[in-house]
Amino acid sequence: MESKPSIPYVVGSKSPMAVAINSAAKAGEWIKSRVGSVKDLSTKYSPQDLVTDVDKGAETMIRKLILTHFPDHDILGEEGVAPGAEASAAAVTAAKKSEYLWIIDPVDGTTNFVQGFPFFCVSIALAYKGEVIIGVIYDPMRDEMFVAEKGKGAYMHGNPTRVSKEALLADSVIAIGFNPDSEVAAPINLKGITALADRARSLRAGGSAALHLAYVAAGRLSGYYEVNLNAWDTAAGALLVTESGGIVTDTAGNPYDIGVRNLIASNGKIQQQLLDVVSAAGATGL
Ligand code: IPD
Ligand code: CA
Ligand code: CA
Repeated sequence: MESKPSIPYVVGSKSPMAVAINSAAKAGEWIKSRVGSVKDLSTKYSPQDLVTDVDKGAETMIRKLILTHFPDHDILGEEGVAPGAEASAAAVTAAKKSEYLWIIDPVDGTTNFVQGFPFFCVSIALAYKGEVIIGVIYDPMRDEMFVAEKGKGAYMHGNPTRVSKEALLADSVIAIGFNPDSEVAAPINLKGITALADRARSLRAGGSAALHLAYVAAGRLSGYYEVNLNAWDTAAGALLVTESGGIVTDTAGNPYDIGVRNLIASNGKIQQQLLDVVSAAGATGL
């Protein structure tokens, strides 16, 4: 049987991976230059869901860079989708039909960016027929570029990333999120957080889903749980985690795909323990 190439084709002189890295680096550099100078701050779905001129400008920049090289590819970007869980889920369902789909979160961690709290990133993924084959996450404040390619491993500045080794939740530091959907998702997350606080060594809420996943991939965190995420929060990071030896599932233990909104990611060894705690707490969001 003919094997499928993991990078489908090259247009001109640039591979999709090179375009993803270049776009993330360019956007990240510009976002960093705008820390402390946000001109246009508004809210979207809830008072906790912020958007700025920088989110919109960075997405436009990334879209243009990608379409220059791959004009026939589709793009699912956060700022191109109406706010709220329903619109996001519908956009992902429609986008799953694309052959080549780029999934962009121009600024993941907008609240942090607005505050000047240096924990935010650019997240860019490429899916082929619904399966993520490239994931790039760039943290411009630390100049850390995390990259993964399906079947070829994950790297940060040329060094392979590996998940942590903890076998017990009790020895693990777990990331959690304070989701901007304060009515439905936040109470579920809080139930999960309360249960995990009792069982894990410690919890961290950095405020960037994508960077949490990059940190799980790099072994800096052992796991991450959050209910009500979007494809642009998770697509690149999920590939980083699995290519670094970890596991990513929904909160019922089903394998990750870009439609998963309720997520548990870990080093693999503590995945079942996380699933059990979240399920026993009635905090799966399913
Ligand atoms: C948010 C961040 C945050 C997570 C939220 C996301 P945004 O993305 O990743 O950590 O808790 O669920 O919506 O709005 O900063 O791109
Ligand atoms: Ca996000
Ligand atoms: Ca965002």
